[in-house]
Amino acid sequence: MQISSATFIASSPSLKLCPETDLPEFAFIGRSNVGKSSLINMIAGTKALAKVSGTPGKTRLINHFLINESWLLVDLPGFGFSKTSKEESRKIETMIEGYLLRRDNLRLTFLLIDSRHSPQKIDLEFMAWLNRNQIPFVILFTKADKISRALHTANPSLYRNSLMATLNIDPVFILTSSEKKTGREEILNCIEEELKFRHA
Ligand code: GTP
Ligand code: MG
Repeated sequence: MQISSATFIASSPSLKLCPETDLPEFAFIGRSNVGKSSLINMIAGTKALAKVSGTPGKTRLINHFLINESWLLVDLPGFGFSKTSKEESRKIETMIEGYLLRRDNLRLTFLLIDSRHSPQKIDLEFMAWLNRNQIPFVILFTKADKISRALHTANPSLYRNSLMATLNIDPVFILTSSEKKTGREEILNCIEEELKFRHA
């Protein structure tokens, strides 16, 4: 799939205030600093669409981007940022969960995991929650340029084993790097399949 246009639509503080639309939507979620905004820019093919930062907790609002005038990408705030107060973290988590449960045009969720880390409790718990609530998701391992080729399958395999053992699921996963544009085709193919499938 070619990307012919990508435009910022809105930053919204809550689900209620998000743009009302029937257009199919694809969400990016994951821990703070995992690379959500960078990946959205990489997919859209523009550097400045979503704001990227070296400081975790950059994205605090729900950001919508319109792609090819026909579908949306959503950049959600990161969860699990340790410097945020407990109350603030809980608020963000509740907002993300509410969004994933109640956004009617949401088609697929991309859960981002830093490929450098072995399975983390917070991510495994989040996958269990997604699974329990029957929210379809694809795992994107990020920042692959930061680890050696030999390790590209190491952490994904640990996640796979853990998910098979605890939840009996074997989700799709894609290795990505925003720096090197790794995984772009695969993510776009995923989106294209989903768009075709639902329109069939
Ligand atoms: P929050 O909005 O705070 O939740 O963060 P985020 O998940 O949107 O992460 P963001 O895209 O802002 O990236 C965080 C940091 O990681 C920035 O310094 C990026 O330049 C860096 N980064 C993101 N993706 C990659 C990647 O693929 N490779 C490398 N080397 N660095 C990356
Ligand atoms: Mg961000």
